[in-house]
Amino acid sequence: MQDQLTALLSKAQQELPSLKTRPEFEAAKARFVGPNGELTGMMKQMGAVPKEQRPILGKVINETKVQLQTWLDAALRQIEARELESQLGPAIDPTLPSPDAQPGTYHPLTLVREEMCRILGRVGFSVVEGPEVETEYYCFDALNTPKDHPARDAQDTFYFPEQTRFGNVSKKIPDEKYLLRTHTSSVQIRTMLSRQPPIRIVSPGRVHRRDTTDATHSANFHQLECLYVDKNVTVRDLKALLDYIFTSLLGKDTKTRFRPHYFGYTEPSFEVDLSAKHLPKINKEWIEIGGCGMVDPSVFEGVGYDSNVWSGYAFGMGLERLAILLYGIDDIRYFYQNDLRFLRQFS
Ligand code: DAH
Repeated sequence: MQDQLTALLSKAQQELPSLKTRPEFEAAKARFVGPNGELTGMMKQMGAVPKEQRPILGKVINETKVQLQTWLDAALRQIEARELESQLGPAIDPTLPSPDAQPGTYHPLTLVREEMCRILGRVGFSVVEGPEVETEYYCFDALNTPKDHPARDAQDTFYFPEQTRFGNVSKKIPDEKYLLRTHTSSVQIRTMLSRQPPIRIVSPGRVHRRDTTDATHSANFHQLECLYVDKNVTVRDLKALLDYIFTSLLGKDTKTRFRPHYFGYTEPSFEVDLSAKHLPKINKEWIEIGGCGMVDPSVFEGVGYDSNVWSGYAFGMGLERLAILLYGIDDIRYFYQNDLRFLRQFS
């Protein structure tokens, strides 16, 4: 029987590595180790073997079985690998340029942001950036937003756990919390603390609020903030600038109006509405577009500017809303879905 086993092994060693398909594999497995297979057949003959030879032969049979199983496993792995390869198709080189690459297009929010920065650049505003991760001081305290203000609630603001550290975002107060900025007004404070007036900056960027997404809300969206600090700045200057930027962006028939409002960091404060009936899909007479006002003297004092010398205005507005008006888009979610059918319309 030893010889039979040896012969079985050498046959298996030859056949098993060349198996190509699962049916071939199953057939071979049945032939070698199945209930009616050769090895089982030999085991059945053990009864006829003299008693004293049985332990030795039993050991050889076991070893044969283990060896067959090893080869069967290897053959199956090879078949599986081949199957996977045929599913994946021919090998590709991911470092090569894509065969169907087309030139990209600008996102509508990028287009509006760049256009606004260009319009403001023409009258002396330069672009500055601020961090999206902010601290309570820059986002709220320095802007006279008291601790109990609803905007600071966890329902409105995303806070980071207390132990979170951001080495690249400086804190003003050692134990203040990090958060995702709810508006770009924080950049006003960072800018004033790092520069001396006169200041004329525009700062576009992403902001975050705990909003449920629908056609007009998104938990993250974009704003554009402007700050002008100089001597003898008046509300007239602010109104003139807003008229200039909106007629430049949306056309000469665009009108703006101020409605008195309250913001902790400006006095007086206004909400800005615009009317642009020449644009498609605008069926309301006045559309709210942002907030603005004259920088509150206490904000100046907080950053170390003498409020008897310096005056200024600030405003902030939503970029999505501007793009919606400019392009007649009716759902804010289109901006974030990366649907090429939408995006290609702005190329
Ligand atoms: N930060 C305000 C908001 O997110 C908008 C705003 C209002 C910005 C008045 C300003 C300002 O600079 O002066 O709703």
